Amino acid sequence: MSARLPTRITRGVPTSDGAGVRLTRLMGGDPRMPSVDPFLMLDYFDSPDASDYLAGFPPHPHRGFETVTYMLDGRMRHKDNHGHEGVIETGGVQWMTAGRGIIHSEMPEQTEGLMRGFQLWVNLPAKLKMQAPAYQEHPAATMPIEAREGGVAVKVIAGSTSRGAKGPITVEATGARYFDLTLPDDATFDEPLPAEDAGFVVVHAGAIVFPDGRTVDALGLAELGAGDAVRFTATRGPARVLFIAGKPIREPVAWHGPFVMNTRDELVQAFEDYQAGRF
Ligand code: CO
Repeated sequence: MSARLPTRITRGVPTSDGAGVRLTRLMGGDPRMPSVDPFLMLDYFDSPDASDYLAGFPPHPHRGFETVTYMLDGRMRHKDNHGHEGVIETGGVQWMTAGRGIIHSEMPEQTEGLMRGFQLWVNLPAKLKMQAPAYQEHPAATMPIEAREGGVAVKVIAGSTSRGAKGPITVEATGARYFDLTLPDDATFDEPLPAEDAGFVVVHAGAIVFPDGRTVDALGLAELGAGDAVRFTATRGPARVLFIAGKPIREPVAWHGPFVMNTRDELVQAFEDYQAGRF
């Protein structure tokens, strides 16, 4: 199989969102940042200091895509305007299909200690943008951890591995796969990745090296180029890495703030519907 090498390696940039929550933006929101259709945006939050996150994300709308919140540490309470409410616990995930519209808040449940995790935005094709909102929510205990040679552990959040471990989340629109990998020093992750799928990896602890010798260290993102497999090795110690892949949508993207549609007219309609209380 031919290994897919990085086409671009970028580093996250500090930003803030919601009511002043400090974040590292790894994808989206800036032409200098990568974008990997169907993935729109990726934020990483990581703070031991409650003052960085306590204000949380007060009520805000979404339309036309999916948000995926994966908690590495700490807990996040979410509540929407349709009566849906819950807490994402440490190691758990919420895959929210905003569809035609929700208004929700995302607030840290804790008042002290480490808060760490990711939020990914995944686009929807035109025919699914206006579907009813839906949730897939799963605690850590529901996610298989596939043990591989060399001590590699593959936590499967969404989709399936080539060896058959299946995560609790299925994503029909884009066939997205979302794995959280733990690699001991010098251990290699090797996984088929169909040529037609887009994919990227994000290092969140340690460092990895690709077959061409390029390294990516913590809070680096590598977009994967052509080929039919992904392969990299932990270097200089153990590493933690997200592997995320899916089918490109290849449609025009009209994106403003929390609305991601296909045309400018649809964005205007989204604002009108939101302001008129139709979400
Ligand atoms: Co939100």
